Amino acid sequence: MTTRITLAALAVAGLTAGAAAAQDEPRPEGLAALDPPPIPADNPMTPEKIALGEKLFFDPILSGNNAMPCSACHEPAAGWAVQAPISFGYPGTTHWRNSQTIINSAYYGKLFWAGASGSLEHQARSAARGGVAGNGEDDMMEARLAFVPEYREAFNEVFGDDWPLVRHAYMALAAYQRTLVQTDTPFDTYMRGDDDALTDQQKRGLKLFTGKANCVACHSGPMLTNEAYYNIGVPPYDGWEDDPIAQITFRFELYAKGVTEDMYRTTKDDPGLYFRTKQKDDKGKFRVPSLRYTAYTYPYMHNGMLETLRDVVVFYNEGGGENEFAATKSDLIQPLGLSDEEVDDIVAFLGSLSGDEILPEIPEIPVMEPLPTVQN
Ligand code: HEC
Ligand code: HEC
Repeated sequence: MTTRITLAALAVAGLTAGAAAAQDEPRPEGLAALDPPPIPADNPMTPEKIALGEKLFFDPILSGNNAMPCSACHEPAAGWAVQAPISFGYPGTTHWRNSQTIINSAYYGKLFWAGASGSLEHQARSAARGGVAGNGEDDMMEARLAFVPEYREAFNEVFGDDWPLVRHAYMALAAYQRTLVQTDTPFDTYMRGDDDALTDQQKRGLKLFTGKANCVACHSGPMLTNEAYYNIGVPPYDGWEDDPIAQITFRFELYAKGVTEDMYRTTKDDPGLYFRTKQKDDKGKFRVPSLRYTAYTYPYMHNGMLETLRDVVVFYNEGGGENEFAATKSDLIQPLGLSDEEVDDIVAFLGSLSGDEILPEIPEIPVMEPLPTVQN
């Protein structure tokens, strides 16, 4: 079945009618090109707000020790993430999950591996304050912002603040992140009508993705996720055993997020969605992640236990893996019987979901200055 390309979609893509004419091959159902992201009515985008959000993203001022900016764990040159299985954490902790890319995070209904946050605004606050991330304290961060003349001016201009309000910092961060999207990958160009945008191998991979391998059962739509939650059998993080700090952090999370006493004593694996719902059927389930920009975001899965995209496809081909929560593993995950060539084809197709690496110039961070002790 051919996906119809509407004139409006073409206008968004900035394509000419000539490009559409090049489409002879049918497009798969269940997948689509990516349009610009939704912008919430209560946080409209302006160039000044985006520029402020960009500075704040790279500025350690929004953390406890004035040394842990968002960009530390979402480093542009590392896929806007951390290229290690588990992210490092606030000094004295590790994180306990893999750092996610923030490219295209503007499209998700729920953020984090298990969907614990409902908006980028809310998420920014959790990140700046979370004990294993920024570990910042709102009043302290607000006071620091007030000591930066450039921020006083910018918060006044953008939000009308007499003194910078930290909740407005979170709004600016969200606005900036809504600019970090990629809607022009080879896959998008192909879906918008250019038959030549994918190689033959990538086209074979796409067919397998939507057919024999049935990845599209979960990785569907323009973001290649249905945003539902599954346990696909990702094995537990292998660093708990010998890293005391990692063990402490994991147990802290179990305690802080609330589990039964029995689980606290025995669980060695991330219960994922269970933390939010406290339903045993949700143990080990995670949000289906987007497959966009994954060329740059290795290693993969919530705990980084798979190193390469080929490892991921081989993992699915073998029917997924095993973890502590066997009872909740999805029936959709079954051995696929793919040949080595077919595995390669899918890996090649996954490559078409990433465009060029997004590497902006890092903005200059404004400096604090003492406030005059006597006001006049
Ligand atoms: C110490 C490392 C660290 C710092 C600092 C940090 N993050 Fe993260 N970030 C992570 C990790 C790890 C995750 C995944 C956590 C989870 O799922 O529980 C994440 C997840 C996210 C996500 C969710 C993406 C998705 O696909 O759902 C966004 C957005 C994000 N961070 C933005 C930020 C912003 C904005 C800041 C600064 C205010 C920040 N982060 C600071 C490590 C960090
Ligand atoms: C039953 C739903 C389901 C199916 C079918 C499925 N996936 Fe996934 N996929 C997920 C979930 C859930 C995760 C995250 C799991 C976790 O971290 O524990 C994931 C993670 C991934 C990741 C890692 C992304 C990242 O950022 O770390 C890749 C790549 C991926 N899947 C590709 C595929 C491919 C290719 C297929 C088909 C061979 C496929 N998936 C089939 C649900 C599914």
